[in-house]
Amino acid sequence: MGFPEYRPRRLRRSGKLRGLIQENDLSARHLVYPLFVKEGAGGRTPIPSMPGVCQLTIDTALSEIDEAAGLSVPAVLLFGIPDRKDERGSGAYDENGIIQKAVREIKKRFGDDVVVITDLCLCEYTSHGHCGPIKDGDVDNDETLKLLAMAGCAQAAAGADIVAPSDMMDGRVKAVRAALDASGFSQVPIMSYAAKYASAFYGPFRDAAESTPQFSDRRGYQMDPPNQREALREMELDVEEGADIIMVKPAILYLDVLALARQRINRPLAAYCVSGEYTMVQCAAAQGFLDYRRSVVELTMGIKRAGADIIITYFAKDLARWMKEAPL
Ligand code: PBG
Repeated sequence: MGFPEYRPRRLRRSGKLRGLIQENDLSARHLVYPLFVKEGAGGRTPIPSMPGVCQLTIDTALSEIDEAAGLSVPAVLLFGIPDRKDERGSGAYDENGIIQKAVREIKKRFGDDVVVITDLCLCEYTSHGHCGPIKDGDVDNDETLKLLAMAGCAQAAAGADIVAPSDMMDGRVKAVRAALDASGFSQVPIMSYAAKYASAFYGPFRDAAESTPQFSDRRGYQMDPPNQREALREMELDVEEGADIIMVKPAILYLDVLALARQRINRPLAAYCVSGEYTMVQCAAAQGFLDYRRSVVELTMGIKRAGADIIITYFAKDLARWMKEAPL
């Protein structure tokens, strides 16, 4: 039956009617709020390329988490900005590294009321800004695995609820899983940045995390944007190596990869709406070119519709606030 007997517009005539047949919902329970934490106290340093996002210190991070938790955001993803960097990124696995200290404080204050996810990578901690130590001008994959394993254990020992390797070295999930298991952390899940593309859209994040590579770029380890089948292979490998949650990143630029993963990968899926995706909307909305709230809801709904369970987003607090007013 077609037109004129069938008219799809009949079910779009009012908000309540549209609500009845809405296929996807956004709920705060799936949101993860990323935070940048540095040494010191009282810090709220605005990041010019990410309007509305600040580098925090542990005390201000605690207030930020308090606010987010009050809005029902259940989880945070932590990035550390150390005071000192070195060739081997030792701040990442030092027991008193910034993230380890932050996790201990957050868990002490919030316990199980906040899920603390720690980004597991060396790039914020290395003097050269790459995701592992350099040998012959290239990141030394196998040496990096040892350091990541140490960093994962340090984060778990501090109380991290989930560790999230984001380096894209081969074999890192297996190495981190083995180290966690051997150190008594077999209950700590791994959320792997499995399909992580070498994206221009991480630019603002690198300002925030002070992690821009000092030479060359990350195309030797992160994925090539034109490839989709390769993403599936990366995700399958990480599942085999023991990843509990699989991530696609960036999110809105790679919805095809997310939708494919939803069909083919039998694990919870996370999508990371990255800094550049955030900043595009912020800048356009600040100019009055886009309606901020409608744009943010629509793009987040796109991520949900494509198949994400977990949505990592700098918009988390705004989304949660709007959800309190009315269901999304
Ligand atoms: C660390 C890491 C990056 C992001 C998350 N973890 C940067 C990178 O790989 O250069 C990007 C997040 C964002 O852009 O919001 N390896």
